[in-house]
Amino acid sequence: MSDALVQAAIDAAGKAYAPYSNFHVGAALLLDDGSIVTGSNFENASYGMTLCAETVAIAKANSDGQLRQIVAIAVAGGPAGQGPGADPITPCGRCRQVMKEVADLVAIDLPVHCAHEGGYVTYTLSELLPHGFGPANLG
Ligand code: THU
Repeated sequence: MSDALVQAAIDAAGKAYAPYSNFHVGAALLLDDGSIVTGSNFENASYGMTLCAETVAIAKANSDGQLRQIVAIAVAGGPAGQGPGADPITPCGRCRQVMKEVADLVAIDLPVHCAHEGGYVTYTLSELLPHGFGPANLG
């Protein structure tokens, strides 16, 4: 299943709109029914408006009422037209924070599969974002 999820992220990267960085990122979310939700990065001429692939995918799941079904995440990225490089892409800080909202909601230390050219490495979200701020901190 993880292999299929990583492949879905790689495929999603092919749908990126990234004319400024030419760096294409795809994310794939595994839902508890086995289905997959994907997202890709969506850049903007006002560069700071860019939406990352992971956040796009999570917002898609939320919009379809599937936020509480997320059980795993995969991310893949690389220069346009190329697959993942030798080193895995890990989610940016903002995306880790967005993932934490989901992880706390579903009470799962979400596995995040990060693709490289030969496969993927898996981190848990708490490894990527130790001591993160979350809903529980609001009391
Ligand atoms: N990007 C993502 O989509 N996800 C990340 O976790 C890191 C960066 C995108 C943003 C921008 O479109 C491009 O990669 C280069 O930073």
